[in-house]
Amino acid sequence: MKSSKTVWHQSSVSREAREHANGHRSVVLWFTGLSAAGKSTIAHAVEETLHHAGCRTFVLDGDNIRHGLCGDLGFSLEDRDENLRRVGEAAKLFLEAGIITLAAFISPLRAERERVRNLMPHGDFLEIYCAASLDVCEARDPKGLYSKARAGLIADFTGISSPYEPPVAPELSLDTGKMTIAECVASVMELLAARSIAAGFRGAS
Ligand code: ADX
Repeated sequence: MKSSKTVWHQSSVSREAREHANGHRSVVLWFTGLSAAGKSTIAHAVEETLHHAGCRTFVLDGDNIRHGLCGDLGFSLEDRDENLRRVGEAAKLFLEAGIITLAAFISPLRAERERVRNLMPHGDFLEIYCAASLDVCEARDPKGLYSKARAGLIADFTGISSPYEPPVAPELSLDTGKMTIAECVASVMELLAARSIAAGFRGAS
């Protein structure tokens, strides 16, 4: 989506200059999976690790974003599409700002996730699948939403009455039904090190 009545103003401070000042590359870590699969928990735990290592980070969290920027949207496939369009554009701005962005959204459809991926330069979007099964997520049900969805009190609930398409080739798949949070964080940190994003900077391991 482009406005035909505006002209892009190029910043004199480049992404590279910001990354240099920060001491690490920027990237978008995109956590996808069912509600209660652990996306937010792991995103925040990884952020804490990175923050303590001196990295510039920010979490874009589905539930939080729906309190503000996307507070006007519901859970129809059309509204989720618009939710992810806005969040994708926001994540792209954070990438440009030199920040390691951790986005935690169900983002149920492959095509939507690919659209967000294609907004970014190649290699700057890393898809992390939080692969806890529906059974596990429903048993956890931390917000009581699955039981309400089963009772017909919540419409369009992902995994119950709305689809979820697992990633085909994510950069990382975490079995969040079995792995501990610490193991998941370690796997994400390994991915960042393998991509030379946040290894070796100010003590990141
Ligand atoms: S997305 O599909 O558009 O990516 P998003 O990640 O922003 O979803 O929001 C998901 C969160 O909204 C869930 O963690 C859950 O707490 C809440 N929620 C409320 N209603 C629904 C619903 N119908 N389907 C899924 N999640 C819902």
